[in-house]
Amino acid sequence: MGAASRVADRTDDDREAAAAILRDLLGARLVLVTGKGGTGKTTFSAALALLAAAKGRKVLLAEIDSQRPALTPVFGQAPTFDGVAVTEHLTVANLTWQDALQAFLRKLVPSRRIVKLILTNRVVSRFLDFTPGSQEIVTLSALGERVESYDLVVADMPASGHAFSLLDITRSAMGLFRSGPVRTRASELRALLIEPSTRVALVGLPEEMVVNETIETYAKLDKFGLLSRAPAVFLNRATLPTFTDDERSLLARLGKQELTELQEEFLRAGRWEDELEQATASSRHRLAEAIPIRPVLVPPSTAGGTSAGSVQAVAAHLGRLVGIGRKQLGWPA
Ligand SMILES: Nc1ncnc2c1ncn2[C@@H]1O[C@H](COP(=O)(O)OP(=O)(O)OP(=O)(O)O)[C@@H](O)[C@H]1O
Ligand SMILES: [Mg+2]
Repeated sequence: MGAASRVADRTDDDREAAAAILRDLLGARLVLVTGKGGTGKTTFSAALALLAAAKGRKVLLAEIDSQRPALTPVFGQAPTFDGVAVTEHLTVANLTWQDALQAFLRKLVPSRRIVKLILTNRVVSRFLDFTPGSQEIVTLSALGERVESYDLVVADMPASGHAFSLLDITRSAMGLFRSGPVRTRASELRALLIEPSTRVALVGLPEEMVVNETIETYAKLDKFGLLSRAPAVFLNRATLPTFTDDERSLLARLGKQELTELQEEFLRAGRWEDELEQATASSRHRLAEAIPIRPVLVPPSTAGGTSAGSVQAVAAHLGRLVGIGRKQLGWPA
């Protein structure tokens, strides 16, 4: 078997594995997306939500406690606490903890006037500021409630460290509150997080530091019992393998020869591409060794650098894996 067909085989195999992972996420009830800052969490969350909506599921894409919602430029509308519909099946929301607190209290205390009094009470606000985890519990609670009203909720979580404390708060709160409504809610939420229909997706880049953080996040979530199964891993801006071993040795040979300016130019482009491919290959290898599920590779988009353009490009790429075409995405006009 020649080198070229070996590459092709590996790619087909990867495509099938990636499609299976994606189908599994699209069929979940709750997908929690996290990863290092700036890796593409929002882009991936939005792409996944669009794909599930294209399949006819009723989907909520929720940012968690964002001061400046990243979804606003993506859909051209600011996400609200209650959610705004951006396509027939897709609603976007921003679950801030202040709104979540009001909603939480309204459930416990039937009188709106009393809720208002509680919210403006100094003792209560100091309690909330200083009781570890109270903000996180109400925010997670709002997220958990949304699962009841949608077929799928995709949560664009904060970056890994913060996302971990947010999720693990269910354990700390159960230690802190021996009884009462907060404890009950914390244990219900913990049960939701580890339900088989809940998935964690980690988004990373083919860079050493990012891969380290992805592996650490996985290990921590696993250690603290926050995973019902291995999380899906998306290696974003990955340069898919194209060079065969023969082509690589050709690049190396060319480097030793006297070249014209134009040949030099080609060689530089080839080396640059090769470096990106090698970075992807080594990141993928390290991830595969540490996390018992294959990373799904997502190529860089060339769609002009806007956030909406990247979401569309990533959704189109992932859509191709599972047979959902661009037109079906119902991108908001
Ligand atoms: N595959 C891609 N190709 C090209 N650009 C991308 C790709 N994925 C994401 N981007 C761009 O990279 C930037 C960061 O992406 P995004 O905002 O999704 O990351 P994030 O992890 O949500 O960041 P933050 O930690 O700030 O929330 C954005 O400008 C986005 O449009
Ligand atoms: Mg983001």
